[in-house]
Amino acid sequence: MASDPSNPSSARPASPHSTVRRDLAWVLALTVLAAVLSVTFDFSEHAYRWTRGLERFQLDELPGTLCVLSICLAWFAWRRYRETRRELSRRCVLEAQAERLLADNRRLANQALQAQELERRHLARELHDELGQYLNAISLDAARIRDLSSGREPEVHRVSLGLMQSASHVYRQIGGMVRRLRPIGLDEFGLPSALEHCVDGWRERLPDASFSLAIEGDFAGLSDALTITLYRLVQEGLTNVSKFARTSRVEVFLVRAPREAQEPQDRQDARLIDEIVVTMADDGPGTDLEKPRGGLGLIGMRERVEALGGEFHVASKPEGGFLFCARVPAHAGLAEPVN
Ligand SMILES: Nc1ncnc2c1ncn2[C@@H]1O[C@H](COP(=O)(O)OP(=O)(O)O)[C@@H](O)[C@H]1O
Ligand SMILES: [Mg+2]
Repeated sequence: MASDPSNPSSARPASPHSTVRRDLAWVLALTVLAAVLSVTFDFSEHAYRWTRGLERFQLDELPGTLCVLSICLAWFAWRRYRETRRELSRRCVLEAQAERLLADNRRLANQALQAQELERRHLARELHDELGQYLNAISLDAARIRDLSSGREPEVHRVSLGLMQSASHVYRQIGGMVRRLRPIGLDEFGLPSALEHCVDGWRERLPDASFSLAIEGDFAGLSDALTITLYRLVQEGLTNVSKFARTSRVEVFLVRAPREAQEPQDRQDARLIDEIVVTMADDGPGTDLEKPRGGLGLIGMRERVEALGGEFHVASKPEGGFLFCARVPAHAGLAEPVN
């Protein structure tokens, strides 16, 4: 499977100091070798003897000219070297600036997502508590009108039935909106139950696909931002399955497990990172990741994961299924412990 080319690779360049030292050693070695060979074989005397017959071409002036040329070339190289150094330090400053801006951007994206989720939660509660309550009251009043008008006022009876139907239609619509705004059971029963409920919903909606959900580890005590991010990742992944891989076999795997941090090789004390990994794979038609894609779903998933300090990877190829994997530190979104 091809992996997402938009992902930066982490090739480590050779240290510039070691190459400078090596090149200087070569220059010195070759100069000493040339001096030793010249002394041993009397190179200048031979050259003079060979070129004596060509005095009219002034070849004996060549060494001086070549000496000036080499000094000029050294000066030229030195100027280019200085220019390159200046350009390099300018780039380093710009890179540091870009990194700072990227970190600011991630923080802002994180805050925007959190504000969005907070607003959604608030809206869901308002819709459920306020509108739901009044709709219930309308429905009960309509039922009472229906009972009172039954047999006596056929026109009023008909209107009351219509009113009850409309109220229950709006009630269902609001229920759907509330579920989209805040996943069912996420606050009450926790992430695993909410995900099971979400996958069950897709099982009903997509009978030609098959779904398996495996959850390992303890998901209590995560920040709200992380919990909702994990839920939204699976939700968006399953929505994509419904759009692009309706008849595939889908495997969702969610695990919380410690992983060894990638420390420099000379460090012996391996550090463990408590992290959560979400993987979703389907064996559907896949896609060519090299081609430009228009949607915002995968971009939003990456934004959410990176805003929490995690990594997001996608792999797919035409007729080869689709896979995404997100790794996020389990403490993401929680306040840092005070030492
Ligand atoms: N499960 C999948 N199987 C095949 N292709 C997929 C799948 N998920 C995403 N894609 C491809 O990746 C593209 C980007 O997905 P996404 O960002 O969610 O945008 P959208 O769903 O709005 O098209 C899709 O247009 C589709 O080509
Ligand atoms: Mg999508």
